[in-house]
Amino acid sequence: MAAITLKEIAQLAGVSVSTVSLVLNNRPCRISDSTKDKIRMIAKEHNYRPNAIARSLVMRQSKTLGLIIPDIENLFFSTLAKSLEMNLRKEGYSLIIMNTDEDSEEDYELLNVLVDKGIDGLFIIISNDIYLERQRMIDRLDDLRIPFIMVDRIFDDYECNKVYFNNFEGSYKATRHLIEAGHKQIACLAHTIATKNTLSRLNGYIHAMRSQGLKVQPEQILLGNYKLQSGYDACRQFLETGCTALLVCNDMMALGVIKYLFEQAYKIPEDYSIVSYDNQLASYLFEVSLTSVDQNVNTLGVYAAQLMLKLLDSGECKGEPVKICLEPELIIRKSVKDYNL
Ligand code: RIB
Repeated sequence: MAAITLKEIAQLAGVSVSTVSLVLNNRPCRISDSTKDKIRMIAKEHNYRPNAIARSLVMRQSKTLGLIIPDIENLFFSTLAKSLEMNLRKEGYSLIIMNTDEDSEEDYELLNVLVDKGIDGLFIIISNDIYLERQRMIDRLDDLRIPFIMVDRIFDDYECNKVYFNNFEGSYKATRHLIEAGHKQIACLAHTIATKNTLSRLNGYIHAMRSQGLKVQPEQILLGNYKLQSGYDACRQFLETGCTALLVCNDMMALGVIKYLFEQAYKIPEDYSIVSYDNQLASYLFEVSLTSVDQNVNTLGVYAAQLMLKLLDSGECKGEPVKICLEPELIIRKSVKDYNL
């Protein structure tokens, strides 16, 4: 059965459509309380639901936000999306979550889809290969007439609202942990594309090694694409390096590394020590108690949601940009062999 309309309620109550709209939106109008009660009763009896599209046209606000993420199958992004959606729903906003699958053309396509749907604001985590054509994305973001926040993956030198983690610090802490456990030959599995996160994580690893007088040979830097299979494939090369430890720059690749090591009958940490990044796997892994850099996605979601709500309240979308850099935490478990013990 089609939902009752404002026009039908007006006919039943014997008043104008604009009177019904004022009453149901609790706006002041010059009619008797009994007529107001009659209008509300008719609406309730017929399960009237305001038409969100019509309402957004009147209010010039859709109470809907957009989130673009690179890989919805990756726990880091799906957990972040859940945190954002739940925080925003509490504030009366709906969140449309769209997945680019790390395809940069999709970043532009989905951005246009969301804007065409009349979203009030946008959260964007860009695909990694957007870094190969930064200016195109910067120009597109500059054209936006709604508030937007770059989340997790940012352009360092582009002034806009950003909420992200200190990636240099995260991998520095992880590498120091391995060094303090007595490892001298440590490899790092990073992302193939020179993204802000990848370069920061690599630099954190290199700085930690060099600050302790340890060399980083070229073959100790392995490359993947943040997916499980690339970690599995890179593990073969890792075993040829002669290193005793590996810092893996995201959990999905760490899963691939762990899978390969187990297939080759190696034990973690007895044979090889592994530290991962994202800390999303602890409740899923049983054989390995994985030490990992925690980028708390719930904190990321709360800060991003709070900033967006502030931007929406201010009505400003081109005001002074806000940059929030959060500190990751190394969660130490049992995947690192300690030579000092
Ligand atoms: O696992 C996905 C990775 O890409 C995370 O480390 C996160 O930082 C994202 O940028």
